[in-house]
Amino acid sequence: MKPGRRAPAQGLQETIGNTPLVLLDRLLPDLGSRVHAKMERFNPGGSIKDRTALRLLADKVAAGELVPGRSVIVESSSGNLGVGLAQLCRSFGLRFLCVVDARTTERNIALLRAYRAEVEVVTEPDPQTREFLPARLRRVQELTATIPHAYWPNQYTNPLNPMAHHRTMAEIDRALGGRIDYLFCAVSTFGTLRGCAEYIREHGLSTTVVGVDAAGSAIFGNPPGPRLLPGHGAAIRPPLADVTLADEVVHVPDLDAVVACRRLVRREAVLAGASSGAVVAALERLADRIPKGSTCVLVFPDGGDRYLDTVYSDAWVAEHFGAVSHLWETRLTTSV
Ligand SMILES: Cc1ncc(COP(=O)(O)O)c(C=O)c1O
Repeated sequence: MKPGRRAPAQGLQETIGNTPLVLLDRLLPDLGSRVHAKMERFNPGGSIKDRTALRLLADKVAAGELVPGRSVIVESSSGNLGVGLAQLCRSFGLRFLCVVDARTTERNIALLRAYRAEVEVVTEPDPQTREFLPARLRRVQELTATIPHAYWPNQYTNPLNPMAHHRTMAEIDRALGGRIDYLFCAVSTFGTLRGCAEYIREHGLSTTVVGVDAAGSAIFGNPPGPRLLPGHGAAIRPPLADVTLADEVVHVPDLDAVVACRRLVRREAVLAGASSGAVVAALERLADRIPKGSTCVLVFPDGGDRYLDTVYSDAWVAEHFGAVSHLWETRLTTSV
C-alpha cells in the first residue's frame, strides 16, 4: 500500500466511525476560540446511531448469541437508531422488527422498509402519561416475550450504548492531541454524553462537558413541556442519564435550534440536523464565559436531509414560529 492511501473497507460495518472533525471558522468569528464539529452524518446510515447499533449487535453476533436467519431483533425507535439497526440487521442477516408510533414520519418508515425492516406502528399513547414512549416499550416487551429467538437490545438501559461513544471521544481526542476545553453533546438516551464523559474522566482530560437538552425536556429534572423537534430531549429521565457527568446544561428552545441550523448553512455550508442546531445555540449561549483561545468540539449527530419538512421548510417554520427569517443573520435569542 502506498503511503497516504487507505485500504478498501472490508464491508459496510468497517465504514462506521472515524467521521470527520471539521473546523468551523466562519460560524462565530467573534468567539476567539476554535470550534470543531464531529460530523456524524458521514456514518453509512447517516447518524451517530450507527455506532450504537454496531456496538449493540456485533459482539453478540461474534459470540454466536445472535444467529443470522434465526434471531429477531426487536427495538423501539422512531428515528436514527431504527435506521442504524435496520441497516446492520440487514448486514448481519438478522430479522428486525421496529416499533414506531403515530408521530414517526412517513419518510423514516419508508427508510426502515427500504432496509427490509418490519415496522409496527403503535397508534395510541400510554393512557396515564399521554406519551408514546411507554406504549412503544410495552409493545416491544410483548413482542420479545412471544416471538421465538427475539432479542431486545434496549438502547435506554444497555451499557453498550454509552460504551459505543468511548470510541467517538477517542477519535476526537486523537485528532486534537488531548486539547479539548469544551465538548457540547445533545442528549436523549444520554448514551453519547455518558460515553464521551466517561472517556474524558478515565483519560484525565480537563474538558468541560456541556449537555444540550431541548426546552420542554425532562432529562435534567425540568417539568416536561411541548417540543416540536425530534432527536434530542425526552419526556422522562432515561435510565442511562447520570446528570453529574454534565458540567453545564443548556436548554435550547426549538426556535433557537432552527435559527442555528439555518445559520450553519449560510455561514459554513453545513446542512445539519435539529440537535446539531441546538448544540450551536448552546455554544452561543455560553460564548461570553468561554475564555478566548479555547478549543470547542460540537458533536453533530446527523445531517439535515431528514429535516427538510421541518427545520428547512419555510412553510413549517412560519406555521410554528411566525415571520422569523430575519433571525438567521442576527445573534441567537437567549430566551428561557
Ligand atoms: C439527531 C439526534 N440527536 C441527538 C441524539 C441524542 O443522543 P443520545 O441518545 O446518545 O443521548 C439522538 C438520539 O437518538 C439523535 O437521533
